[in-house]
Amino acid sequence: MLIRKPADIEPSEITPKDVYLNRRQFMVTSAGGLLVAADAMAALTAKPGTPLKDEKTNSLKEATTYNNYYEFGVDKEDPAKHAGSLKTRPWSVVVEGEVAKPKTFSIEELLKFAPLEERIYRMRCVEGWSMVIPWIGFSLAALLKQVEPTGKGKYVAFETLNDPKQMPGVKYPILDWPYREGLRMDEAMHPLTILSVGMYGDVLPNQNGAPIRLVVPWKYGFKSIKSIVRIRVVEQQPKTSWNMAAPNEYGFYSNVNPKVDHPRWSQATERRIGEFSRRKTLLFNGYADQVAGLYGGMDLLKYF
Ligand code: MTE
Repeated sequence: MLIRKPADIEPSEITPKDVYLNRRQFMVTSAGGLLVAADAMAALTAKPGTPLKDEKTNSLKEATTYNNYYEFGVDKEDPAKHAGSLKTRPWSVVVEGEVAKPKTFSIEELLKFAPLEERIYRMRCVEGWSMVIPWIGFSLAALLKQVEPTGKGKYVAFETLNDPKQMPGVKYPILDWPYREGLRMDEAMHPLTILSVGMYGDVLPNQNGAPIRLVVPWKYGFKSIKSIVRIRVVEQQPKTSWNMAAPNEYGFYSNVNPKVDHPRWSQATERRIGEFSRRKTLLFNGYADQVAGLYGGMDLLKYF
Protein backbone atom coordinates (compact mmCIF):
# COMPACT_ATOMS: atom_id res chain seq x y z
CA MET A 1 0.00 0.00 0.00
CA LEU A 2 3.02 2.25 0.18
CA ILE A 3 3.37 2.07 -3.58
CA ARG A 4 0.88 3.80 -5.80
CA LYS A 5 -0.05 2.11 -9.08
CA PRO A 6 -2.78 3.09 -11.49
CA ALA A 7 -5.68 0.67 -11.38
CA ASP A 8 -5.35 -1.08 -14.73
CA ILE A 9 -7.85 -3.87 -14.56
CA GLU A 10 -9.92 -4.83 -17.58
CA PRO A 11 -13.70 -4.36 -17.39
CA SER A 12 -15.48 -6.94 -15.32
CA GLU A 13 -15.92 -10.52 -16.38
CA ILE A 14 -18.81 -11.69 -14.26
CA THR A 15 -18.98 -15.38 -13.49
CA PRO A 16 -22.58 -16.47 -13.99
CA LYS A 17 -24.47 -17.92 -11.04
CA ASP A 18 -24.90 -21.36 -12.65
CA VAL A 19 -21.10 -21.65 -12.87
CA TYR A 20 -20.86 -21.10 -9.09
CA LEU A 21 -23.54 -23.68 -8.53
CA ASN A 22 -21.78 -26.22 -10.75
CA ARG A 23 -18.58 -25.52 -8.89
CA ARG A 24 -20.38 -26.24 -5.62
CA GLN A 25 -21.76 -29.44 -7.07
CA PHE A 26 -18.18 -30.34 -8.01
CA MET A 27 -17.08 -29.68 -4.46
CA VAL A 28 -19.68 -32.04 -3.13
CA THR A 29 -18.96 -34.87 -5.52
CA SER A 30 -15.19 -34.65 -6.04
CA ALA A 31 -12.73 -37.02 -4.39
CA GLY A 32 -9.36 -36.47 -2.70
CA GLY A 33 -8.13 -33.36 -0.99
CA LEU A 34 -11.26 -31.35 -1.49
CA LEU A 35 -13.48 -33.83 0.30
CA VAL A 36 -13.18 -32.27 3.73
CA ALA A 37 -14.09 -28.92 2.32
CA ALA A 38 -16.85 -30.56 0.30
CA ASP A 39 -18.40 -32.03 3.44
CA ALA A 40 -18.26 -28.69 5.13
CA MET A 41 -19.48 -26.75 2.13
CA ALA A 42 -22.37 -29.10 1.42
CA ALA A 43 -24.59 -27.05 3.70
CA LEU A 44 -23.93 -23.96 1.62
CA THR A 45 -26.61 -24.34 -0.99
CA ALA A 46 -29.19 -24.20 1.79
CA LYS A 47 -27.95 -20.76 2.87
CA PRO A 48 -29.18 -17.74 0.96
CA GLY A 49 -26.10 -15.65 1.80
CA THR A 50 -26.33 -11.88 2.02
CA PRO A 51 -26.86 -10.39 -1.44
CA LEU A 52 -26.42 -6.63 -1.71
CA LYS A 53 -29.13 -4.67 -3.43
CA ASP A 54 -28.15 -3.18 -6.81
CA GLU A 55 -24.53 -4.26 -6.52
CA LYS A 56 -22.90 -6.85 -8.72
CA THR A 57 -20.47 -9.38 -7.36
CA ASN A 58 -16.99 -8.96 -8.85
CA SER A 59 -15.75 -11.74 -11.08
CA LEU A 60 -13.56 -14.54 -9.73
CA LYS A 61 -10.86 -13.34 -12.12
CA GLU A 62 -10.90 -9.82 -10.69
CA ALA A 63 -10.83 -11.11 -7.11
CA THR A 64 -7.87 -13.43 -7.78
CA THR A 65 -5.63 -11.28 -10.01
CA TYR A 66 -5.75 -7.87 -8.28
CA ASN A 67 -4.54 -8.54 -4.75
CA ASN A 68 -2.53 -7.17 -1.87
CA TYR A 69 -0.45 -9.87 -0.21
CA TYR A 70 2.96 -8.35 0.48
CA GLU A 71 4.51 -11.66 1.54
CA PHE A 72 4.39 -12.42 -2.21
CA GLY A 73 5.37 -9.01 -3.60
CA VAL A 74 4.05 -5.47 -3.67
CA ASP A 75 2.42 -5.35 -7.10
CA LYS A 76 -1.23 -6.24 -7.52
CA GLU A 77 -0.40 -9.12 -9.88
CA ASP A 78 2.40 -10.58 -7.70
CA PRO A 79 0.22 -12.69 -5.35
CA ALA A 80 -1.41 -14.52 -8.28
CA LYS A 81 2.05 -15.15 -9.79
CA HIS A 82 3.92 -16.18 -6.65
CA ALA A 83 1.51 -17.47 -3.98
CA GLY A 84 1.46 -20.91 -5.59
CA SER A 85 4.52 -21.70 -3.44
CA LEU A 86 2.45 -21.50 -0.25
CA LYS A 87 1.82 -24.95 1.21
CA THR A 88 -1.59 -24.91 2.83
CA ARG A 89 -1.55 -28.53 4.13
CA PRO A 90 -0.73 -29.45 6.81
CA TRP A 91 -1.89 -26.22 8.47
CA SER A 92 -2.91 -25.39 12.00
CA VAL A 93 -4.02 -22.33 13.90
CA VAL A 94 -2.99 -21.79 17.52
CA VAL A 95 -5.71 -20.09 19.61
CA GLU A 96 -4.24 -18.97 22.94
CA GLY A 97 -3.72 -16.15 25.43
CA GLU A 98 -6.38 -15.00 27.88
CA VAL A 99 -8.55 -18.07 27.36
CA ALA A 100 -9.60 -20.92 29.63
CA LYS A 101 -9.13 -23.59 26.96
CA PRO A 102 -6.27 -22.81 24.56
CA LYS A 103 -6.15 -25.14 21.59
CA THR A 104 -4.33 -25.76 18.31
CA PHE A 105 -6.86 -26.44 15.57
CA SER A 106 -5.92 -28.30 12.41
CA ILE A 107 -7.35 -26.82 9.20
CA GLU A 108 -9.48 -29.95 8.86
CA GLU A 109 -11.02 -29.24 12.28
CA LEU A 110 -11.59 -25.63 11.31
CA LEU A 111 -13.31 -26.56 8.04
CA LYS A 112 -15.78 -28.63 9.99
CA PHE A 113 -15.87 -26.28 12.92
CA ALA A 114 -19.13 -24.45 12.38
CA PRO A 115 -21.75 -24.28 9.64
CA LEU A 116 -20.16 -22.61 6.64
CA GLU A 117 -22.11 -19.72 5.18
CA GLU A 118 -21.79 -17.66 2.05
CA ARG A 119 -21.45 -13.95 2.87
CA ILE A 120 -21.45 -11.48 0.01
CA TYR A 121 -19.47 -8.53 1.36
CA ARG A 122 -18.39 -5.16 0.02
CA MET A 123 -14.60 -4.87 0.53
CA ARG A 124 -12.97 -1.41 0.56
CA CYS A 125 -9.21 -0.98 0.26
CA VAL A 126 -7.65 2.17 1.75
CA GLU A 127 -6.01 2.75 -1.66
CA GLY A 128 -9.42 3.75 -3.03
CA TRP A 129 -10.71 0.64 -4.82
CA SER A 130 -13.37 -1.81 -3.81
CA MET A 131 -14.89 -5.15 -4.76
CA VAL A 132 -17.92 -7.26 -3.84
CA ILE A 133 -16.85 -10.80 -2.97
CA PRO A 134 -18.88 -13.91 -2.07
CA TRP A 135 -16.89 -15.30 0.85
CA ILE A 136 -17.45 -18.66 2.49
CA GLY A 137 -16.71 -18.89 6.16
CA PHE A 138 -17.89 -19.13 9.72
CA SER A 139 -18.24 -16.65 12.52
CA LEU A 140 -15.06 -15.84 14.45
CA ALA A 141 -17.26 -15.64 17.57
CA ALA A 142 -17.98 -19.38 17.31
CA LEU A 143 -14.25 -20.17 17.48
CA LEU A 144 -13.56 -17.72 20.31
CA LYS A 145 -16.47 -19.04 22.39
CA GLN A 146 -15.00 -22.53 22.14
CA VAL A 147 -11.72 -21.45 23.82
CA GLU A 148 -13.56 -19.40 26.47
CA PRO A 149 -11.92 -15.95 26.71
CA THR A 150 -11.29 -14.89 30.33
CA GLY A 151 -12.48 -11.56 31.78
CA LYS A 152 -9.02 -10.14 31.01
CA GLY A 153 -9.39 -10.73 27.26
CA LYS A 154 -10.14 -7.31 25.76
CA TYR A 155 -8.62 -7.63 22.27
CA VAL A 156 -7.82 -10.34 19.73
CA ALA A 157 -4.47 -10.41 17.90
CA PHE A 158 -3.85 -12.29 14.64
CA GLU A 159 -0.65 -13.38 12.88
CA THR A 160 0.10 -14.63 9.37
CA LEU A 161 2.62 -17.37 8.60
CA ASN A 162 6.16 -15.96 8.33
CA ASP A 163 8.21 -18.38 6.22
CA PRO A 164 10.88 -16.95 3.90
CA LYS A 165 11.17 -20.32 2.13
CA GLN A 166 7.60 -20.09 0.91
CA MET A 167 7.07 -16.34 0.95
CA PRO A 168 9.64 -14.44 -1.12
CA GLY A 169 8.39 -11.03 0.07
CA VAL A 170 9.32 -11.51 3.74
CA LYS A 171 13.00 -11.30 2.82
CA TYR A 172 12.42 -7.56 2.38
CA PRO A 173 11.81 -5.32 5.38
CA ILE A 174 8.71 -3.66 3.90
CA LEU A 175 6.81 -4.54 7.07
CA ASP A 176 7.90 -5.92 10.44
CA TRP A 177 6.94 -9.54 9.71
CA PRO A 178 4.88 -11.53 10.50
CA TYR A 179 1.88 -9.55 9.21
CA ARG A 180 -0.15 -8.69 12.32
CA GLU A 181 -3.66 -7.44 12.88
CA GLY A 182 -6.02 -6.93 15.78
CA LEU A 183 -9.61 -6.29 16.78
CA ARG A 184 -11.32 -5.17 19.95
CA MET A 185 -13.21 -8.09 21.54
CA ASP A 186 -16.67 -6.74 20.63
CA GLU A 187 -15.55 -6.28 17.00
CA ALA A 188 -14.17 -9.82 16.96
CA MET A 189 -17.44 -11.20 18.37
CA HIS A 190 -19.64 -9.23 15.94
CA PRO A 191 -21.74 -11.46 13.67
CA LEU A 192 -20.37 -9.78 10.50
CA THR A 193 -16.79 -10.83 11.39
CA ILE A 194 -15.89 -14.15 9.79
CA LEU A 195 -12.99 -16.47 9.27
CA SER A 196 -13.13 -17.27 5.57
CA VAL A 197 -12.03 -20.60 4.11
CA GLY A 198 -13.45 -20.16 0.63
CA MET A 199 -14.91 -17.86 -1.98
CA TYR A 200 -17.07 -18.23 -5.11
CA GLY A 201 -18.26 -21.63 -3.89
CA ASP A 202 -14.74 -23.06 -3.78
CA VAL A 203 -11.76 -23.24 -1.41
CA LEU A 204 -9.74 -20.03 -0.99
CA PRO A 205 -7.07 -19.44 -3.64
CA ASN A 206 -3.62 -18.93 -2.09
CA GLN A 207 -3.43 -15.31 -3.21
CA ASN A 208 -6.62 -14.55 -1.27
CA GLY A 209 -5.26 -15.91 2.01
CA ALA A 210 -5.59 -19.70 1.95
CA PRO A 211 -6.29 -21.72 3.89
CA ILE A 212 -7.96 -19.35 6.39
CA ARG A 213 -8.22 -15.57 6.64
CA LEU A 214 -10.15 -12.92 8.49
CA VAL A 215 -12.88 -10.84 6.80
CA VAL A 216 -14.15 -7.68 8.53
CA PRO A 217 -16.29 -5.87 5.95
CA TRP A 218 -16.75 -2.49 7.69
CA LYS A 219 -12.99 -1.91 7.99
CA TYR A 220 -10.34 -1.21 5.35
CA GLY A 221 -9.10 -4.34 3.61
CA PHE A 222 -5.76 -4.43 5.40
CA LYS A 223 -7.51 -5.52 8.63
CA SER A 224 -8.58 -8.72 6.84
CA ILE A 225 -5.38 -10.65 7.54
CA LYS A 226 -4.53 -13.65 5.34
CA SER A 227 -3.17 -17.17 5.98
CA ILE A 228 -3.57 -17.01 9.77
CA VAL A 229 -1.46 -19.27 12.02
CA ARG A 230 -2.03 -17.64 15.43
CA ILE A 231 -4.97 -16.01 17.22
CA ARG A 232 -4.22 -14.62 20.67
CA VAL A 233 -6.72 -13.14 23.12
CA VAL A 234 -4.94 -10.29 24.92
CA GLU A 235 -5.48 -7.63 27.56
CA GLN A 236 -3.84 -4.68 25.79
CA GLN A 237 -4.48 -3.28 22.31
CA PRO A 238 -2.14 -5.34 20.10
CA LYS A 239 0.45 -4.00 17.66
CA THR A 240 -0.66 -4.12 14.04
CA SER A 241 1.58 -4.15 10.97
CA TRP A 242 0.42 -1.03 9.13
CA ASN A 243 0.02 0.99 12.31
CA MET A 244 3.61 0.09 13.30
CA ALA A 245 4.87 1.01 9.80
CA ALA A 246 3.11 4.39 9.61
CA PRO A 247 1.02 5.33 12.67
CA ASN A 248 -0.11 8.66 11.21
CA GLU A 249 -1.49 6.88 8.12
CA TYR A 250 -3.06 3.73 9.58
CA GLY A 251 -4.96 3.71 12.87
CA PHE A 252 -5.86 0.67 14.96
CA TYR A 253 -9.59 0.89 14.22
CA SER A 254 -9.38 1.54 10.46
CA ASN A 255 -13.14 1.75 10.07
CA VAL A 256 -14.12 2.83 6.56
CA ASN A 257 -14.89 6.54 6.94
CA PRO A 258 -15.32 8.88 3.95
CA LYS A 259 -14.58 11.86 6.24
CA VAL A 260 -11.13 10.69 7.38
CA ASP A 261 -8.68 10.87 4.49
CA HIS A 262 -5.46 8.90 4.33
CA PRO A 263 -2.59 11.40 3.76
CA ARG A 264 -2.16 10.10 0.19
CA TRP A 265 -5.65 8.88 -0.73
CA SER A 266 -9.00 10.60 -0.33
CA GLN A 267 -11.51 8.24 1.24
CA ALA A 268 -14.58 10.18 0.01
CA THR A 269 -15.01 8.08 -3.14
CA GLU A 270 -13.87 4.73 -4.48
CA ARG A 271 -13.54 2.86 -7.78
CA ARG A 272 -15.31 -0.47 -7.83
CA ILE A 273 -12.99 -2.78 -9.78
CA GLY A 274 -14.63 -3.34 -13.17
CA GLU A 275 -16.41 0.03 -13.19
CA PHE A 276 -15.21 3.31 -14.68
CA SER A 277 -16.87 6.02 -12.65
CA ARG A 278 -16.24 6.43 -8.96
CA ARG A 279 -18.92 5.91 -6.33
CA LYS A 280 -19.31 7.54 -2.93
CA THR A 281 -17.71 5.67 -0.04
CA LEU A 282 -20.17 4.89 2.73
CA LEU A 283 -19.50 5.25 6.46
CA PHE A 284 -18.52 1.83 7.86
CA ASN A 285 -18.53 0.67 4.22
CA GLY A 286 -22.34 0.65 4.24
CA TYR A 287 -22.65 -1.54 7.36
CA ALA A 288 -23.37 1.36 9.78
CA ASP A 289 -26.81 0.02 10.74
CA GLN A 290 -25.09 -3.09 12.09
CA VAL A 291 -21.85 -1.76 13.57
CA ALA A 292 -22.17 1.96 14.43
CA GLY A 293 -23.30 0.96 17.94
CA LEU A 294 -19.84 -0.47 18.65
CA TYR A 295 -18.39 3.04 18.52
CA GLY A 296 -21.00 5.07 20.45
CA GLY A 297 -19.41 8.09 22.12
CA MET A 298 -16.05 7.62 20.36
CA ASP A 299 -14.49 10.44 18.36
CA LEU A 300 -14.00 8.70 15.01
CA LEU A 301 -11.64 11.45 13.82
CA LYS A 302 -9.29 10.65 16.70
CA TYR A 303 -9.79 6.88 16.74
CA PHE A 304 -9.38 6.39 12.97
N1 MTE B 1 -2.68 -10.18 4.85
C1 MTE B 1 -1.36 -10.45 4.78
N2 MTE B 1 -0.87 -11.45 5.50
N3 MTE B 1 -0.53 -9.72 3.99
C2 MTE B 1 -0.99 -8.66 3.25
O1 MTE B 1 -0.18 -8.00 2.57
N4 MTE B 1 -2.92 -7.29 2.61
C3 MTE B 1 -4.17 -6.72 3.14
C4 MTE B 1 -5.19 -7.81 3.48
N5 MTE B 1 -4.55 -8.91 4.17
C5 MTE B 1 -2.38 -8.34 3.32
C6 MTE B 1 -3.22 -9.16 4.13
C7 MTE B 1 -4.76 -5.75 2.23
S1 MTE B 1 -3.95 -4.27 2.10
C8 MTE B 1 -5.93 -5.98 1.56
S2 MTE B 1 -6.67 -4.73 0.66
C9 MTE B 1 -6.57 -7.32 1.57
O2 MTE B 1 -5.79 -8.28 2.27
C10 MTE B 1 -6.75 -7.79 0.14
O3 MTE B 1 -7.47 -9.00 0.13
P1 MTE B 1 -7.78 -9.70 -1.29
O4 MTE B 1 -6.49 -9.80 -2.03
O5 MTE B 1 -8.38 -11.03 -1.00
O6 MTE B 1 -8.75 -8.79 -2.00
